[in-house]
This record gives sequence, C-alpha cells and structure tokens, in this order.
Amino acid sequence: MTRGSLLVDHIGELVTNDGRDGDPLGVRRDAALLIEDGEVAWTGPARHAPAADRRIDAGGAAVLPGFVDSHAHLVFAGDRAAEFAARMAGERYTGGGIRTTVGATRAASDDDLRATVGRLRAEMLRQGTTTVEIKSGYGLNVADEARSLRIAAEFTGDTTFLGAHVVPAEYADRPDDYVGLVCGPMLAAAAPYARWIDVFCERGAFDADHARAILACGQAAGLGVRLHANQLGSGPGVRLGVELGAASVDHCTHLTDADVDALAGSETVATLLPGAEFSTRSPYPDARRLLDAGVTVALATDCNPGSSYTSSMPFCVALAVREMRMTPAEAVWAATAGGAAALRRTDVGRLTPGARADLIILDAPSHLHLAYRPGVPLIRQVLHNGVPR
Ligand code: NIG
Ligand code: FE
Repeated sequence: MTRGSLLVDHIGELVTNDGRDGDPLGVRRDAALLIEDGEVAWTGPARHAPAADRRIDAGGAAVLPGFVDSHAHLVFAGDRAAEFAARMAGERYTGGGIRTTVGATRAASDDDLRATVGRLRAEMLRQGTTTVEIKSGYGLNVADEARSLRIAAEFTGDTTFLGAHVVPAEYADRPDDYVGLVCGPMLAAAAPYARWIDVFCERGAFDADHARAILACGQAAGLGVRLHANQLGSGPGVRLGVELGAASVDHCTHLTDADVDALAGSETVATLLPGAEFSTRSPYPDARRLLDAGVTVALATDCNPGSSYTSSMPFCVALAVREMRMTPAEAVWAATAGGAAALRRTDVGRLTPGARADLIILDAPSHLHLAYRPGVPLIRQVLHNGVPR
C-alpha cells in the first residue's frame, strides 16, 4: 500500500479511452482505479483492486476522464446578452461585437479580469472540465494582450496568443500595420506567457496572407499553431492550418471536399464548437463527414461572451450527438481524448496508468446519459490531479 493512495472502487463503467476498433472509449465494466501521486497507477477488475489508504465508492456509476476543453476565451470583461437577444430576434452574427468586448476588457482592472477567469474556470470544473485552454484576443494592444496572457497563465499551461482576433478600430484603415504590431512588439510581450498562437482567419478578420505571416512569426518564437477557420464561410483557413502543421483548426463549419481531404491526410485535429452554432443560430458542422473521412475530431466550448457563452462540455456533447450526428461514444471521446490531441497532450484525456488522475464520477451508470439526459447536472464528483474537488 502506497501512502496517499486512493482507490475509486465499484465503477460500473470505466471509460479509459484505451480503445480498440469498435470501442474507442476502451470501456471496462465493474472496474476500479488506483491513484498514486496524482496519477493513475492501476486500473482493472474491481475484484482485483489493491488496498489503498483511502477509498471512494462509485456505487456502480460511470467514471470518465475529465473533459479537455481545448478552446476557450475566458479573459474578458462585460457581456453581450443584448447582442444575443438581437440574434435570437433575427440578426446575423458577424464577429463585429468582438470590438465591444475589447473596449470593456481594456477598461477592466487586472483583478476584475482575474475574477472572471476564476469564476468561469470554477464553473467548468463543476461541470467536469479538468483541462482548459485559454486565449487572449480581447486586448488587441501590446499591454492588454500581454496582461491577458499573464492572467490566463495563472489558470492553465495551455495559453494561446490571439492578438489576431480582429483588427482593432484604431487600425481599421491600416491592417498591414496591425499585422506588423502583432508580429513584432505584441508577440514579444505575449510569448513569455503563451504556448500557442492562433489567428481568426475569416472574411472580416484576417486573410490567408496575414494569417500565414502571423503564424510563421509565432512558430519562429516557439509557439505551436492553432487556427479559427471556416466558421462563417468557406475559405483558406483549414488548408493553411494543415500546411503549417497546426495542432488544431477550430470551428470547421463550412468545409469543401478539399478541406476534408487535407485534414484526413494530416495530424491536425478538427475542433468543433457547437455552442457557437447554437448561440448564433447557425448550421452545425458536419461531424459525420469528418469522422467518416478519418479526421480526428475534438469538441470544445469556445466559451466567450459573444458567440458561445457556455462553459459546459456536457452541453456540447449533447449538441454534438443530437445535431451533428456523432454517436455518444464519439462525442465523449472527442470531448476528452480529442481535446487532448488538439492540445498535443498525452497526459490527459485518458485513464490509463501514467495519466493525470483527472476524472469525473457521473450520477449515471453510463456515458450515454450525458447526451440522453441533456441539461441535467450529472457530474457527481470531479477529481483533479487525484484530489476530490
Ligand atoms: O470563436 N470567431 C472568433 N472568435 C470567437 C468569437 C468571439 C466573440 O464574438 O467575442 C469565436 O466564436
Ligand atoms: Fe473561439
């Protein structure tokens, strides 16, 4: 018996993500899981469970890896509830509201921004998210992008520099100059706090040439590439991401056959964000088409005050199943192992020996219930680094 060990016993259905053909979730029935030093040390049949210092009785419930939310914009001030209401009354989403949030974010104190990130991070944890990526992108000047990332880095190692979210109003007439600022002083100030670089490559935001230039600067500064692409219409973003070896291209709502082919032949994950289609009342991406082509798919919340103000991965799983033709197993895999792949992480998104002991005990006997019982708080308990939260 190891000091400080913890046994999660009487697991009715253990989702390991150590899958084989036909069982991507690697489900084990009547299982137990041993945690030592914040890591999974052993999994196996409950009847063979080793002794441990402490024990949690799962009572026949399902246990899943904690959700990996690989796309969230948590550093902002204010909200855009009125913009949401206007959309529900028929207005279209264009991304133009980003500038409203930029104004509020620049005016906010560090403590206000930190409190918002902390509140949303806590909301996520209660809903089973144990790993989150956090982007900047509402500062859009050197000081406010750097402080956004500095605050984000207090909450996660997966921080993303999104200085190229939109061209801020003061550069509206000279986008080339803004790209120069992003690649120069802004990147220099941001890079110490960032693991990733991201660009919103879309009509009305940044075109392929600007996106390529910015991402190349980020790569040269040691940052990994991810991209907002093909959200509002088809365009070059997805193929650019594949060409640059992006870990993930995100949204993927409007794809051509060439986009799907490019993804299928690559290591780039397609991250789908159904909260955005829900909240902008837009057509959902065709997950089935991507999966059938062999593309690795992740699900994430895109939590932000404009296009998707949800922090709930269970909600995204339910939408993916109901609206995007994913099976419940595919959606749970995408929300856990898929998110880990999108962040190029091998320590999370699975429950096998050596993984971080990040797990969810459901108030349900099976992962199926996440989509089957939408809107119901099914997260009974969350363990983060082996510690009950
Ligand atoms: O992922 N598409 C660009 N960025 C966000 C929206 C940000 C906003 O509307 O404030 C997104 O949907
Ligand atoms: Fe986003």
